[in-house]
Amino acid sequence: MAGSAAEQVATLYDSPEGQLGPLLFGGHLHWGYWDAQHADDDFATAADRLAEIMIGKSRIGPGQRFADLGCGVGHPAIKIAKATGCQVDGVTISKYQQETATAKARAEGLSDRLTFIHGTALDIPRPDDFYDGGWFFESIFHMGQSEALAEAARVLKPGATLTLTDLPTLPTTTDDFRAFVREHIHSSFVAAEDYPGLLEDAGFELVSIDDITANVMPWLVPKLKETLAAHEREIYAVVTDATEKMIDDWVFLFEYMAENLGYMIVTARKK
Ligand SMILES: C[S@@+](CC[C@H](N)C(=O)[O-])C[C@H]1O[C@@H](n2cnc3c(N)ncnc32)[C@H](O)[C@@H]1O
Repeated sequence: MAGSAAEQVATLYDSPEGQLGPLLFGGHLHWGYWDAQHADDDFATAADRLAEIMIGKSRIGPGQRFADLGCGVGHPAIKIAKATGCQVDGVTISKYQQETATAKARAEGLSDRLTFIHGTALDIPRPDDFYDGGWFFESIFHMGQSEALAEAARVLKPGATLTLTDLPTLPTTTDDFRAFVREHIHSSFVAAEDYPGLLEDAGFELVSIDDITANVMPWLVPKLKETLAAHEREIYAVVTDATEKMIDDWVFLFEYMAENLGYMIVTARKK
């Protein structure tokens, strides 16, 4: 199924520490969207708002097929299925996430519309031109942007909308940072300016790039600290050998990412 890079990502998300993400972020495994009006919102509320923004861009309707590529524990998939009436296949490299997402869909009475596949989004077990829409929601940087876009282009129908969030590098992004995230979170980031070419090469037409760096990155560390404090007891229940160092490492990672990366939503159409 998976090469060693994908196996490393699976190990990261299957670990007790990897299982903490959804607990801290309200079931989502992506970051949040804040602005002056919503400055008091906690991480979970802001993560839910970002999911709503993504759903608003997704152009999918009742009965249509939607691919959630790198689906986490299924929260965004359930949300888009409820909001639009679409059918969703979620793909995740993490067995823990696939099982958790499947159980959640069952508990919501949505098993007939949601399927969660354990495998790699670089080799989706579906035929060409199968889906009416799809997204990579904070997942493409684990997969390699050009390989992931090529496989998405294969399974999407001509005219289908693909949305994704990615964390673009900045002119100030350092080589030390790139090496750190490659080693610790198995991620590679590209510049926003690379996206038009990446999309073109994969067979997509760029619709828009929304730079929402200011709505995400400066908020991360203060909001993470709040959520860590609010969930202290659950953290130690999930990660029984959790230490202050583990918590400090999380804060460090978020600080380092906020310093070295932006945040954007990319919308594209399959040609
Ligand atoms: C930061 S999480 C985002 C999860 C989810 N999209 C959300 O917003 O809650 C990244 C996700 O990408 C998935 N992932 C990473 N590499 C993958 C691959 N090669 N194939 C499938 N899923 C992958 C991980 O398992 C995880 O679910």
